[in-house]
Amino acid sequence: MERTVEPELMEREDQVISYAKADFSDGENNLINQINYYLIKNNINLNDKELIVDLGCGPGNISEKLSIKWPKAEVVGIDGSKEMIRVAELNKKNSSNPSQLKNLRYMCADIKSLKSSDISLEKNISLLVSNSLIHHITYLDDFFYCLEKLSSKLTINFHKDLKRPNDEKSALHLKEKCAEKYNDILTNDYYASLKASYTSKELKNFIFENKLSSLEVFEEGDQYLVIYGKV
Ligand SMILES: C[S@@+](CC[C@H](N)C(=O)[O-])C[C@H]1O[C@@H](n2cnc3c(N)ncnc32)[C@H](O)[C@@H]1O
Repeated sequence: MERTVEPELMEREDQVISYAKADFSDGENNLINQINYYLIKNNINLNDKELIVDLGCGPGNISEKLSIKWPKAEVVGIDGSKEMIRVAELNKKNSSNPSQLKNLRYMCADIKSLKSSDISLEKNISLLVSNSLIHHITYLDDFFYCLEKLSSKLTINFHKDLKRPNDEKSALHLKEKCAEKYNDILTNDYYASLKASYTSKELKNFIFENKLSSLEVFEEGDQYLVIYGKV
């Protein structure tokens, strides 16, 4: 199936509210466990000097989980949508245990114009994460250029996203399954996201052609893909 680009930022209020209200906690917990497993396997300990950045953080679900999992690290969630950042700040404020999130802050910025000096002057990023961001980015160059700009030689990258289905029939099947659980706005957004997603072949080719060979791509089940490693 050909890729159909969708708008990068999620800015409509109804879209943001539907997304923020949905429960994606199983997938989010799974991502945190995967990152943790990767760090343990590579003997990496995140201590109080470390900086974790969550790109395209949306309403902050992953950012909050990262800051609870690594309470000594500083966590920065970044999104280009003012409405998403507004909801993320609100979620942080209304958290059942706000003191758990005191190591978390948010920034409204487009990843295409982001520089590491925008985030922190003193610290290198130890862990650079994103979830469900890559398919929003119109050109892969912009996504990987951002990783290159923000990463040092030590930065661990971990980026998870949807994988584009092979054909329209499979995309419609996934859309129907989504509709059983979520409202129309979210279901239509999900369908647009599936069509905007990349394939692992496209990602692997980009990585190969741009000599980013320390990054690995793997498919997780039939719906997701993960890019991990160093830039
Ligand atoms: C599908 S949401 C994922 C939110 C969150 N990572 C999660 O897993 O719940 C994608 C987010 O990426 C943001 N985004 C898309 N393109 C972006 C860009 N160029 N710069 C910054 N944020 C962007 C959107 O505004 C949206 O909030």
